[in-house]
Amino acid sequence: MRITLRLIVSLIAAVVLVAMVSAYFNVRQEREKLYSETRGHMAVLAESFKETVRSSLAGKNYAALQKLADKFQYQKQIEGVAIYSVEGRQLATSSAIRGFLLLNKDKISALVAGGDNTGELYRSGEKVTMIYSLSSATGDGEPARIVLFTDVSYVDYELFRIWKRTLLRVLAQMVLIAAVTLFVIRWHIVDPVTQLADWMKKLRVGEASGHMPHLKGDIFAPIAKEATTLATNLQAARRAAQNEARLRQNGESLWTPERLKEHIKIKMEGRPLFVVSNREPYMHIKEGKDIKTIVPAGGLVTALDPIMRAAGGTWVAHGSGEADFEVTDADNRIKVPPEEPAYTLRRIPLSKEEEDGYYYGFSNEGIWPLCHIAHVRPTFRKEDWKLYYDVNKKFAETVLEEIADVKEPCILIQDYHFTLLPSMIKSVRPDARVAVFWHIPWPNPETFGICPWQKELVMGLLGADLIGFHTQFFCNNFLDTVDRTLESRINWEHFSVQKEGHITMVKPFPISVDFQQPDKEAKALGEKPDAKVVLKEMGLKADYIGVGVDRIDYTKGMLERVKAVERFLEKYPEYQGKFTLMQLGAPSRTHIPQYHRFLAELHAEVDRINWRFKAKDWKAIVFLEKHHDHKTITKFYKIADTCLVTSLHDGMNLVAKEFVAARDDNSGVLILSRFAGASREMKDALIVNPYDIEQMADAIYYSLTMPKTEVIERMTRMRQDLHENNIYKWAANLTEELMKLRMDAFKPTGV
Ligand code: G6P
Repeated sequence: MRITLRLIVSLIAAVVLVAMVSAYFNVRQEREKLYSETRGHMAVLAESFKETVRSSLAGKNYAALQKLADKFQYQKQIEGVAIYSVEGRQLATSSAIRGFLLLNKDKISALVAGGDNTGELYRSGEKVTMIYSLSSATGDGEPARIVLFTDVSYVDYELFRIWKRTLLRVLAQMVLIAAVTLFVIRWHIVDPVTQLADWMKKLRVGEASGHMPHLKGDIFAPIAKEATTLATNLQAARRAAQNEARLRQNGESLWTPERLKEHIKIKMEGRPLFVVSNREPYMHIKEGKDIKTIVPAGGLVTALDPIMRAAGGTWVAHGSGEADFEVTDADNRIKVPPEEPAYTLRRIPLSKEEEDGYYYGFSNEGIWPLCHIAHVRPTFRKEDWKLYYDVNKKFAETVLEEIADVKEPCILIQDYHFTLLPSMIKSVRPDARVAVFWHIPWPNPETFGICPWQKELVMGLLGADLIGFHTQFFCNNFLDTVDRTLESRINWEHFSVQKEGHITMVKPFPISVDFQQPDKEAKALGEKPDAKVVLKEMGLKADYIGVGVDRIDYTKGMLERVKAVERFLEKYPEYQGKFTLMQLGAPSRTHIPQYHRFLAELHAEVDRINWRFKAKDWKAIVFLEKHHDHKTITKFYKIADTCLVTSLHDGMNLVAKEFVAARDDNSGVLILSRFAGASREMKDALIVNPYDIEQMADAIYYSLTMPKTEVIERMTRMRQDLHENNIYKWAANLTEELMKLRMDAFKPTGV
């Protein structure tokens, strides 16, 4: 309140000062103007009177003079006139001023004796008189003085009125200023500060949410934004602390971001973590004139971003977004995630030729179909192989640059795009601890053997100190492949390969998701998603919802899935008009002809099935073909009765785990392909063979008719397991294993 008072007083003082100074000059100007007008007027009248009395004065006809003086009084603002001899004797005087002259005799005489004057002011009591005199001559040449008197007391009154007006105006302004200041301060400062303080107080005692209430006015908008972030962090920290306390209490050992952070700090002795992948975790694309950030679809990014958020460090990846290099610094680096930067993304630019040969060609038309048994022939071209080699080299150079100042750096290389990278890095930096995680299946040696460069690929990978796969089965396939391809010593007891003195450990690390993430997405969604509302927005109705979330890829069993939906509706016609499959599909690798053909075939199948069961307000399959953000995907997970993961072959498949993590209501049934790595862990899903359409149709039926208690039991068990085996545990195991290894002398293999 003190500050308000001070502000009001200061504003008022300033306004009063300005008003007074301006009124003072105004008054002065007005007075000058009025007096000078009167003076001018008197000068004209004095001259005309002088002419009028000239002959009477010349003839010393004082009676005529007296008459003229009386006639002249009260004329044209003149109060009266007097004519004096040179000795000061009155020769004639208007009767109107006689009394005044008598009263002020001495002073007037002194004034008159002083000679001509042009408008002297004379004050007597409240009356102000302007005296104007000029000389004339009598008949015998004696000088006489004609003196005119005008009452100018009205000038003071006029000036008084100006002062009064000014004061009234100032008074009104003072009231207005006080009112406006009080209002502005209250509305824009006092109220928002009170709101802010109330909210902070509630937050402190745990009664408020992380979202600040809408503050009045906009002065505090920047503070509000920062305070919301602080509050969210505070809540997260509080939750983490509670969680930790609970875990300590229960003797559990749940992995959290905080725990992973500590773990990595201790295990890596403060060294930063380096991750390398082809796909970047955040992509900048153009939307009209704006630049938008998107999170690309795919399990790799889903799994690794939470780890990097927790651990910090640098992630090196191909900068594939069209606006990627408009937002990076001179070294192609940018801090991510955009909303809360936690680690550095180092982007590597690739030419179209490099992308064609290395990414589309060798990686995705060669190794991808080679490793996935999905009946698509791999294509190996010599030119692609060369570009694959060159790009691996390019990545190696960048990684070497990034780790230049770090002793014994820790590098986690991701996936089939970089089989040559481990050896390339180790041959320059044998002190680096290098792990490769292979996110896709590893086939049997016969299948892998069709690759013309199988030896180079295996040699390149064996540069790593540790190679991780999702399952023991893939580890076995890999070791078998090494056995058939190279001269080496395989230790089947410890699962390692020794080649030219260098040992590579091979171990399963089943990847997972951030169990808490859907919870965060759900909070961002605001209210609980409602199936009816979501369907209504599409102009549809249904009683049961199945959901499928995939990158549009021929390995995902999407054709088989829609065929299973068709068979289900055919076999159980009571579900026609009642069950809808919501298929979310993110376009992927669209420049590859195989993907093109697959997408066209999928569209045709969906159209055919929808046409077959055509009905008003209902569709058998809704195909939402676009890139969806995590928030939207979570919404669909939450409204689904059943989730269909029907991969023909898959390393793990994180959609299965994301669905389970999203179902905090312990409801919903997971239908899961036995050919997805996830089926080895998620035994409470309905495990299906995606090639068996009949079995899948029955699984859909069973998922919708399963007793509620069984649904809850299955989901609860899967959630408990996932809660424990989350992505932080995966990262902790992988890094622990890597740091545990005894470093041997690495001999370059010539890759
Ligand atoms: C799979 C691969 C990842 C890849 C993802 C998305 O999960 O294992 O390495 O990032 O698919 O594919 P894309 O080609 O779009 O990166």
